Amino acid sequence: MSWSSIAVLGAGTMGAGIAQVAARAGCRVILRDLSDDALERARDSIDASLAKAISLGKATAEERDAALTRLEFTTSLDAAVADVDLVLEAVPEDLALKQRLFREAQAHCRADADFATNTSSLSIATIAAATDRPDRVIGLHFFNPVPVMKLLEIVRGEATRESLVDSARGLAERLGKTAILVRDTPGFATSRLGVLLGLEAMRMVESGVASAQDIDTAMTLGYGHPMGPLRLTDLVGLDVRLGIADYLFATLGSEAFRAPELLRRMVAEGLLGKKTGRGFYEWGS
Ligand code: 3HC
Repeated sequence: MSWSSIAVLGAGTMGAGIAQVAARAGCRVILRDLSDDALERARDSIDASLAKAISLGKATAEERDAALTRLEFTTSLDAAVADVDLVLEAVPEDLALKQRLFREAQAHCRADADFATNTSSLSIATIAAATDRPDRVIGLHFFNPVPVMKLLEIVRGEATRESLVDSARGLAERLGKTAILVRDTPGFATSRLGVLLGLEAMRMVESGVASAQDIDTAMTLGYGHPMGPLRLTDLVGLDVRLGIADYLFATLGSEAFRAPELLRRMVAEGLLGKKTGRGFYEWGS
């Protein structure tokens, strides 16, 4: 099926970004979070991003207005999922939370509604197993900032039906994203490689190879990465990266994913990166 209506569950950075690009691409989108405050923040960030798109010549005021008319906000799960083609979750990386949300959603949505998870590393099959429709569950992994990043990582679970992969490719095309297809393995392609680079960079800071800034400069100027692995860790959040590293170490069993002591210590001290004002860098408020 071609997904033309989408309930996005979770209005954080990723959920708001996904809702924005889907609405711009012509989908009817219902963005759901638990509180009005969370929805208000999402609305502000979408407004700001669309304003920036206009100032950069990437959208017109008419396109913004049309996108906003396709976008609804609600705190009600029932109302959000009642009549959509796709239920897409973008809540925090907590397996039990994602499973519970899908179980609740399936009680209120259409029997033919498909489910997608924006998990960056968790098993699609395990999330799908909590539902009454494991063949209708797929991974759609977006990247921050969603309106800018060109990739959509499609993750096929063990039971995912082929037609869902086609629907996902169709959505990627409408959103102007390039899709890659990855088997359901811990960390998929992106997080597995991206996290590894970040962890090794931290081990290098720990053992005094170079400063965080110089290691980042090595990758930006030497390898053409848009941003060094430590600055990116600050943006993603050190706690988020630690959670993924622990999960990949437990599931893949490779020493390469063992979290460095430095990362654990910084998280324990509340140095989580940009969101707390300090990580490997100092961030102004
Ligand atoms: N709407 C539409 N387009 C926008 C936009 C907006 N709000 N804001 C910027 N753009 C466009 C610009 O016009 C420009 O387009 P162009 O290439 O056609 O000229 C492009 O986006 C880049 O914009 P800027 O020049 O303003 O941005 P920078 O050059 O400063 O780069 C960045 C910013 C794209 C964020 C870059 O630093 C980058 O790529 N950083 C790495 C980000 C990254 O790695 N993200 C992945 C994180 S991991 C993740 O998300 C997975 C999760 O599971 C944890």
